[in-house]
Amino acid sequence: MNFKIRAATREDCRDISRMIMELAVYEKMPDQVKISHEELERDGFCQNPFFECLVAEVPEEHKSKEGFTVVGYALYFYTYSTWKGPTVYLEDLYVMPEFRGNGFGKGLLSKVAEVAKKKQCVRLQLSVLNWNTPSRDFYAAKGAQDLTVTEGWHFIRFDGQNLDNLANEAPKN
Ligand SMILES: CC(C)(COP(=O)(O)OP(=O)(O)OC[C@H]1O[C@@H](n2cnc3c(N)ncnc32)[C@H](O)[C@@H]1OP(=O)(O)O)[C@@H](O)C(=O)NCCC(=O)NCCS
Repeated sequence: MNFKIRAATREDCRDISRMIMELAVYEKMPDQVKISHEELERDGFCQNPFFECLVAEVPEEHKSKEGFTVVGYALYFYTYSTWKGPTVYLEDLYVMPEFRGNGFGKGLLSKVAEVAKKKQCVRLQLSVLNWNTPSRDFYAAKGAQDLTVTEGWHFIRFDGQNLDNLANEAPKN
């Protein structure tokens, strides 16, 4: 199927927001999504954006059942490895179900890798849920290594009250 991958614009944020929710439903955690399309516009399309995003777009004649032409996205940002240097972290990769198996996912992932190389990044990292074997297989087939298996890393987060508590304990001078 004919499609193009391009950098997202501010005007894509409604579509990205819709697909963020679709991905969260797939990942069985829709209640966790608190981000609105306005916040995506603010955080991704300001002077120092927190993230970059690519979208997969089909021509009008191949639009989705609901009439969408933006049918996939890859949202990523830059981080830094003290061992290896600049790194791209892929936060989300998603293709709408009716468009899967047509190379959209591979196209998005390869484009992120291309961006990473252009920015001199030496790693492309992401996390995937334990039960999501189709996607784990997809990444493995593209040559990714599973760091939980090979190096035993855990994925750690502070948020909410725990983050507040930690911040409140910061030395004052
Ligand atoms: C994962 C996902 C993005 C892949 O997108 P897609 O458009 O269906 O994948 P593609 O059609 O580009 O497939 C690319 C390649 O991966 C292979 N592939 C696809 N699904 C696969 C699977 N379940 N297991 C192994 N290989 C798979 C394809 O055969 C193809 O191989 P090729 O390059 O040799 O031709 C898509 O299935 C998706 O959105 N899944 C739900 C959301 C999700 O889990 N996202 C990742 C969260 S971390």
